[in-house]
Amino acid sequence: MRKPIIAGNWKMNKTRDESLQFIYAVKDRVASADTVESVICAPFPYLRCLVKRQGASLRIGAQNMHFESEGAYTGEIAPQMLSSIGVSYVVLGHSERREMFNETDEAINKKVHVSFSNGLIPIICVGESLEDREAGQTNQIVEAQTVKALEGLTKEQAKQVVIAYEPIWAIGTGRTATAEQANETIGYIRSVIERLFGSEVSEAVRIQYGGSVNPNNIKELMAQEHIDGALVGGASLDPQSFLALVNYQ
Ligand code: 13P
Repeated sequence: MRKPIIAGNWKMNKTRDESLQFIYAVKDRVASADTVESVICAPFPYLRCLVKRQGASLRIGAQNMHFESEGAYTGEIAPQMLSSIGVSYVVLGHSERREMFNETDEAINKKVHVSFSNGLIPIICVGESLEDREAGQTNQIVEAQTVKALEGLTKEQAKQVVIAYEPIWAIGTGRTATAEQANETIGYIRSVIERLFGSEVSEAVRIQYGGSVNPNNIKELMAQEHIDGALVGGASLDPQSFLALVNYQ
């Protein structure tokens, strides 16, 4: 049985005060960590103060990091900087980073490897554009991204990754993929992982759906066979809405 994982991706939102108000409002009201993993992926400046107040059942993630451990990379954040302040997860390869910051599959694969050497669990984003979907290329795109992101991992590592399937056309648009569409593509990603690492790994890997998830559609999405969680942008910013998402059961 895969444990569901619901993660909020705040993107570049909130002041420090707003992030503190949020954590105090939710930390003791999120679902028990025995039933659901609840994660907030916050901007870098707030990570430490959120970790300090995360409580028993909430964990904190970053939204990106560099793959090098130190050096002359002005403005970048190294993996051990995150692990040393108690961050548990890191979102890698979000489509906004692939598109606006030219992140390549190669760089994402390096980041996946160093996340494991630093005790961080990667949440790896994959997903097709509207153009890809309309051209019938969805499976090819998510397959290529998944294969490259997981290249060189051991089975033990591969089992622990979290994949977020986020169709680009559904992000921030209010246009959610239907639960069936999301399940179909996520099932395909699972079959790719089975081919790469075998069924023990593919049955263990958690695959989230992301793209206009909200408290009204979470239940239907989570009822699908292959959907093990959600990566949520806009609807994760409000404490009550975040609580409704993680307490969807
Ligand atoms: P929205 O939930 O705002 O569509 O964003 C999805 C997303 O990109 C999460 O990483």
